Amino acid sequence: MQYRETYAIVDLEKIKYNLDVLYKKTQKPMMAIIKANAYGHGYQQVAHAIKDNPHISMFGVATIKEAIDLRKQGIKQDILVLGAIPLEDIQLAIDYHISLTLFSLEYAKEIEDHYRGTTPVQVHIKLDTGMNRIGMKSEEEFNSFMESYNPHLFQVDGVFTHFATADDESQDDTFTKQYEQFRLMIDSYTFKYVHCQNSAGMMYHEDKVCNLSRVGIAMYGVDPAGQECEELKQAMSLYTKVAMVKRIKAGEKIGYGHTYQASQDEYIATVPIGYADGFIRANQGRHVFIRGSYYPIVGRVCMDQMMIRVDETIKTHDLVEIFGENISLATMARELNTIPYEITCLLSERVERFYK
Ligand SMILES: Cc1ncc(COP(=O)(O)O)c(C=O)c1O
Repeated sequence: MQYRETYAIVDLEKIKYNLDVLYKKTQKPMMAIIKANAYGHGYQQVAHAIKDNPHISMFGVATIKEAIDLRKQGIKQDILVLGAIPLEDIQLAIDYHISLTLFSLEYAKEIEDHYRGTTPVQVHIKLDTGMNRIGMKSEEEFNSFMESYNPHLFQVDGVFTHFATADDESQDDTFTKQYEQFRLMIDSYTFKYVHCQNSAGMMYHEDKVCNLSRVGIAMYGVDPAGQECEELKQAMSLYTKVAMVKRIKAGEKIGYGHTYQASQDEYIATVPIGYADGFIRANQGRHVFIRGSYYPIVGRVCMDQMMIRVDETIKTHDLVEIFGENISLATMARELNTIPYEITCLLSERVERFYK
């Protein structure tokens, strides 16, 4: 049963297609980044759709809860939690065979003081080469850990870093600096997994240091730099349906704050999508696509509904494309002065996802 006529369609075949395109480019196995509910696409469905893809060797998530949920759903592949987890949850990571990100000597010491188990904690070491987010920043800190860690306490499976500017051609020198710093820091050690490339790294830069790539936004068919992209197929589309069409007179005003006034007699459609669906108020003035034409969103976007200025051809129950075939996430992000990541991540649970 569909309780509300506002829904997203996620085409899992397109995700598989995008993975093939990306693999052809890098010829490296990939860690599929499915944090934040697979950027809003539904992480359990995405994980199951791609778990048997021969090029996916691992999943990357943000929280230990996401990792445990995947295990409970039968995902057997390695899972890395990319962010910090509470010390109380280290035992859970062991119980569910989940790898953690080890990002500072201080955190290593805290684990040592806190963890009482006998199975080593599986970690990938995060190096900070310029993001200035979590990660060991100095060679001294990294070398000090590598030269003195207790193998009964830590099993070091990987090392990685994250780029700040891989998507921005004008900042290529920063990218190169980070890449070189990473290469130099890890030069004298051997790891099972070495990874630094995100989607932008994979698409725009060559790499000879790593044996794994971390693919996020590109897997969902969106260009990491926010450009229109022919090479990949956008996996998600968002639709709603016209709930009501009414005729208003010239001079009448619409919605909260009466921010829109009809300049002539107009047809106004109300559709059931609003900011509680993650469709933010900044969308006022943008367009949606109905029956082959674009129509503007007029008046403020409400919590659960919004109004569109249409014409006499538009009727109750007509399908309204918010984004999809005719409005790309790249276009929408540009118009909203944001990035596609934010748009799909913000789609709330209330928006039902259907899978192809
Ligand atoms: C550490 C890390 N690796 C990889 C990714 C994937 O990035 P993208 O979606 O740009 O490929 C992210 C995304 O935020 C990340 O935080």
